[in-house]
Amino acid sequence: MSAPHIRPRRLRQSPAWRRLARETLVHPAQLVLPVFVAEGGDEPRPIASMPGVVQHSLDSLRAELVRAAEAGIGGVMLFGVPVEKDARGSGATDPDGILNVATRAAVAEVGDALVVQTDLCLDEFTDHGHCGVLDSEGRVDNDASLVRYREMALAQADAGSQLLGLSGMMDGQVAAVRDELDAAGRHDVPILAYAAKYASAFYGPFREAVQSSLQGDRRSYQLDPGNRREGLREVQLDVEEGADVVMVKPAMSFLDVLADAADASPVPVWAYQVSGEYAMITAAAQNGWIDGDRAVDESLQSIVRAGADAVLSYFALDAAERWAGERR
Ligand code: PBG
Repeated sequence: MSAPHIRPRRLRQSPAWRRLARETLVHPAQLVLPVFVAEGGDEPRPIASMPGVVQHSLDSLRAELVRAAEAGIGGVMLFGVPVEKDARGSGATDPDGILNVATRAAVAEVGDALVVQTDLCLDEFTDHGHCGVLDSEGRVDNDASLVRYREMALAQADAGSQLLGLSGMMDGQVAAVRDELDAAGRHDVPILAYAAKYASAFYGPFREAVQSSLQGDRRSYQLDPGNRREGLREVQLDVEEGADVVMVKPAMSFLDVLADAADASPVPVWAYQVSGEYAMITAAAQNGWIDGDRAVDESLQSIVRAGADAVLSYFALDAAERWAGERR
């Protein structure tokens, strides 16, 4: 037997070769940092299940955004944590509500350098913690929720949001919000549709991050994790309704859905590496069980390799700052 003449290892033999042969390199501009802003907070407050992530005050938010702009990431996604919650999520549409106030502050600070994005969903603002309003039987009322999303879209557009992140998973939400924006002459405001958003256990730490009051679960509106074809259907519907960007969420446990979406979508496809994905990697790294930096890079690379054009990740800023000091 002669030695094999086909030797893929030829292109792996040195750091220089591996660098040249690499198919996927995540660029800082592809990263979006989710940030939490708490109403009435003077100091940033740590989130125990997300070590290194905090609920920002307005001042610490501004400082974080300046850092993010300097690191050259692509954007930020804002989440508000209000003091008061009620059945209809009034704080979401109040111009003085925390998310709208934070959006104004963010746009004034870094609106030219970063795409300032806002979560368009009621769950942080409702006392029952659901993404919509409830009917008399306590079920999430799809069409009544759309009325609130329309109002929320206008409030966020008025606050200067540069991308509305529709994460509530109500049927018809993209069409409804597009219609409302257009009727108000806001053709300029784009929509990011959380199209294939699964009912995932990996949102666990997020519930602490926004002090969610949710009892029960979101399985009547978020997708069942067993369903791949349905993920693609949701993407297609949101594209037809006018989404400018579609999203798959979570990222790592839905890379097949992400690849399907990337294949089929005529608009950019993003993925959200969610709180539980952050917590897993961070916890294991803190225990010395995995190399945190390598795990972060591998996870982001896998998400982009599967087809994501951009990634929402709590690692976005740290990774971009670290990469600036590396040869990559
Ligand atoms: C809804 C929303 C959620 C997340 C982002 N937007 C919570 C949910 O659907 O339960 C989760 C993000 C994460 O876990 O990092 N406002």
